[in-house]
Amino acid sequence: MPRSVRPRPKVFVTRLIDPSAFARLRASAAVTVWPGDMPPPASALRAGLTDADAVLSMITDKLDARMISDAPRLRVISNLGVGVDNIDLDAATSTGIAVGHTPGVLTDATADLAFGLLMATARRIAEGDRYVRAGEWRTWGPTTLLGHDVHSSTIGIIGFGAIGQAMALRGTGFGMRVLYLKRPSSKPIERRLAGAVGVTLRRLLAESDYVSLHAPLTARTRHMIGAREFARMKPGAILINTSRGAVVDQAAMVAALKSGHLGGAGLDVTDPEPIAPRDPILRLDKVVITPHIGSASIATRAKMAAIAVDNILDVFAGHLPRQCANPQVRLRGESTAT
Ligand code: DGY
Repeated sequence: MPRSVRPRPKVFVTRLIDPSAFARLRASAAVTVWPGDMPPPASALRAGLTDADAVLSMITDKLDARMISDAPRLRVISNLGVGVDNIDLDAATSTGIAVGHTPGVLTDATADLAFGLLMATARRIAEGDRYVRAGEWRTWGPTTLLGHDVHSSTIGIIGFGAIGQAMALRGTGFGMRVLYLKRPSSKPIERRLAGAVGVTLRRLLAESDYVSLHAPLTARTRHMIGAREFARMKPGAILINTSRGAVVDQAAMVAALKSGHLGGAGLDVTDPEPIAPRDPILRLDKVVITPHIGSASIATRAKMAAIAVDNILDVFAGHLPRQCANPQVRLRGESTAT
């Protein structure tokens, strides 16, 4: 009698990823990749999930309860990113689908970009570049493009997990005083950050020259920085956001920038993304915007892809993903070895 051969598990990958991680996935599974630079539309994502055991998704792929219920074989969603706000975690968990993500490896790259935005906004670097290219640089001027000191200022960090703490380290390296929002759930802080002071939100907003956001987007953090919080910030303070656009009420931010109370904003994330070409924020010189590239270094993206593949292979081997966003899940279809 012929031995039955177990079919290779199927994986739908929603964008081309690092070739060596991709090759490892292909060695263990039948892989379909959505081609091109744009995300698959919902109909293509749904079609890709009809017979997939795993999906390697991007933060741009909306995996809501309906999409999840239309994926009868799916056992793991492996998101290329630390944030999982594009996924209905409760629906995945109750359906027995593990959700993998890629924390850790992107901490420093994201903090580097956040600090770069802080420098660029404070010292008007992007504006200076536009000024030179526009042929306006005619002489050295005693009052040309004056910005704000970074050294000796105070940074207030909201979201004091790994990335927030990495931002704090950069701040201390530049001689800044570091405040952070202290929550009962706050993780222990690194020894190197012994000088950082945990404070209430009200005090952080009142005392910080720079407020930097590193909290994940959840029902609790959506619009946590709105009109009231902007009003409580120091006049002229600068906001840095590399977490998710919707943590900030964007209309309130534009109003605070226009009134001059908010001195500037360095944004790697907006709400929505991409930002509409006619969004009023694009007309404000004191705003520096990058297109959600916090983790976009070559080495970091390769490490993220490697973990995203490992997370899938872990589930195929009967385990939870090594980086699991819903560790309480009971995997559908088989008993879980952890
Ligand atoms: C994340 O990881 O969630 C970032 O936003 C993209 O790297």
